[in-house]
Amino acid sequence: MQICRNYSKFARFILKLMKPIHDLEELREKINRRSSEKSNLALVPTMGALHEGHLSLIRKAVRENKNVVISIFVNPTQFDNKEDLKKYPRDLASDLKKIAAVSPACFVFAPDVSELYPNGLHKGKYNLKGLDSTMEGAHRKGHFQGVCTIVEALLRSVAPDVAYFGEKDFQQLLIIRHMAAARKIPVQIIGCPIVREKSGLAMSSRNQRLSETSREKAANIYRILGTAKQKFGTESATQIAYWVQEEIKSIPELKLEYFEIANEMSLQPVLRKRKNGKYRAFMAVYIDGIRLIDNIAL
Ligand code: PAF
Repeated sequence: MQICRNYSKFARFILKLMKPIHDLEELREKINRRSSEKSNLALVPTMGALHEGHLSLIRKAVRENKNVVISIFVNPTQFDNKEDLKKYPRDLASDLKKIAAVSPACFVFAPDVSELYPNGLHKGKYNLKGLDSTMEGAHRKGHFQGVCTIVEALLRSVAPDVAYFGEKDFQQLLIIRHMAAARKIPVQIIGCPIVREKSGLAMSSRNQRLSETSREKAANIYRILGTAKQKFGTESATQIAYWVQEEIKSIPELKLEYFEIANEMSLQPVLRKRKNGKYRAFMAVYIDGIRLIDNIAL
């Protein structure tokens, strides 16, 4: 009993230490106070509603760096759908608890919209060399321009040495890597493997909105990707895509937005497999009106 009481006192103390920082000036000041010339700085950009996928990025960042900033900001300019932005889960108190359990020494940067968009919600213009012409880019108009706008703002203002992103958003990862190099931002962009639930469902903040039945049905996404991977040895991309469409049609709760087998570097659909080519299968599916994405290396 006494141990429990002491523990919850300790947890409250840690949470007090974990006060989120809302403005950039304070963040820079706190980082400067903590860091010596040599200590490196990592950034883990998130939109909050943290799950095991985010926590795996944070753990890796903490292991590999002296100082870690976790940004929590639901970025309005990357949503092409107002309803989706409104419904995006937000729970800062619970996020802080999760971060404190990994490392209370992290800086949590949770700015208001006006802090990152002082001149209004304007998107930058990025030439993404076709990386945004397929899949998410084709189905969510302007999405990646919004992602690049906010990630560039974060990279420039936090000035990390490294930044961590999950491979669940594989297209986003490649685009951010391209944008940082094209804009000559001195940062290393690190991609981290997808974290899955026991059922195989890729961890996502949107999973919170799934009912128990939908969650069970959503596990089919990974099963289908797994079978597509097996088929890739012997069947063409067109044959596999046809099989995926039929498979999804047989599950009434799922609606396929796209299935694509693409080159892992260019993200262009594969027409003919090359011997040393690296490919991935990508899909976006609606279930109960909730949009889920996933991908697998082939
Ligand atoms: O992947 C996300 O959560 C967001 O797209 C990101 C990178 C934090 C930018 O808002």
